[in-house]
Amino acid sequence: MTSVASSPNPSTDRPAAGPLPKAELHLHIEGTLEPGLAFALARRNGVELPYATEDELRRAYSFADLQSFLDLYYALMAVLRTEDDFADLAHAYLARAKEQGVRHAEIFFDPQAHTARGVAIGTVIDGLARALDAAEETYGISTRLIMCFLRDESAESALATFEAARPYLHRITAVGLDSAEVGHPPVKFREVFALAKEAGLKCVAHAGEEGPPAYVWEALDVLGVDRIDHGVRSMEDERLVARLVADQVPLTVCPLSYLRLRVVDDLADHPLPAMLDAGLLVTVNSDDPAYFGGYADDNFTAVRDALGLDGATLRRLARNSFRASFLDEPTRERYLKEIDAHEAAAGQDGAHGA
Ligand code: ADE
Ligand code: ZN
Repeated sequence: MTSVASSPNPSTDRPAAGPLPKAELHLHIEGTLEPGLAFALARRNGVELPYATEDELRRAYSFADLQSFLDLYYALMAVLRTEDDFADLAHAYLARAKEQGVRHAEIFFDPQAHTARGVAIGTVIDGLARALDAAEETYGISTRLIMCFLRDESAESALATFEAARPYLHRITAVGLDSAEVGHPPVKFREVFALAKEAGLKCVAHAGEEGPPAYVWEALDVLGVDRIDHGVRSMEDERLVARLVADQVPLTVCPLSYLRLRVVDDLADHPLPAMLDAGLLVTVNSDDPAYFGGYADDNFTAVRDALGLDGATLRRLARNSFRASFLDEPTRERYLKEIDAHEAAAGQDGAHGA
C-alpha cells in the first residue's frame, strides 16, 4: 500500500510529507456540525430547520461578533438528540481531523446546551465516548474530553451540571468555560472549578477572546487553569504576557475563528507573530471549524499564507500543541518524534502541507 508519506513530491523530488502531525486542543464538537450532517440528523429526528437547503444555511454563516455566531451554533444543536447523533458527529469530526494531520484531539462539549433541551447528559457523553473509544484504532487519533460550562448560565447551573456528570467523570479529563464572555468573569465559576480540581480534573477556560486581560488574570489566579483558550487580548497587558511566558501557560489560539468573528478584518493583522516573538506557548486550533471555514491544518495553512510563517515556525506551533496537551510523557515524546520525522521527510525548509 502506498502511504501519503512515500508518494513523490514533484517540486522537491523528496517524499511528500503530508500535513504536519499536530494536536487539536481547542475544538467544540458541536462546532463541527457541517450543514450536510445537520440536515441528515434533522430528517432522522423529524426536526424542522429554519433553512430550506444546505446552501441557504451556509449563507447564514456570516457573523458580526461572538454572540451572532453563538445564536446559530445553539439553534442548530436542535438536531442532536440521540446517542447515535453524538457518535455520528464525533466520527465525522475524527475522519476530517485525520486528513488534517491531527494525531491527538482534546475535545470540548457543552452539556448544558443539550440538557436544557431535554437531552440527558449520559446520552451526550455515552454517544461521544462511543466514537472516541474507536478513534485510536479507526483514525489513529488519541483523544480526551473536556466538559465546558456555559458562562452566560448561572454558577448554580454549572454546579448542577458537574454533579450530574459525576458518574461519567472517568471519561472526562478537564473542565472548561465557554460561551458569551463579556459580563461573565471567571470568578463566577470559582466553586465549580474547585470541585473539578478536587475530583482530579484539569482546568481550562476561554478568556481574553472578547473579554479583557483581567479575565485572563482571574482564570489563572482564581480558577487555577492549566491553559487559556484564545487569550489573544493578553497582548494588551505587558505584565500578563510576562506571567504567561514565565509559567509557559499554553494559549490555544484559533486564527480563522478570530477572522470570522471579525476581531480582525484581515488575517495578516493577527497578532500571532508578536505572540511567538514574546515567547508565549501558542498553539493553533480550529474552534468551530464547520462555521469558521477550516479544520486544524486549514488554520495552519491560513496563518502560513497570511503571515508568511516558515516551516520552522509551523513546526514550533505543532510541537507546542503536543507540549500543551494533557498527554502522558511517553505518548507526547512519540508524537514529537513524528514531527522530527516529518521535518526529515519534507527536507530543509519542511514545506508545510502536501
Ligand atoms: N462556544 C463555541 N465556540 C465558542 C467560542 N469561540 N467562544 C466562546 N464560546 C464558544
Ligand atoms: Zn472556543
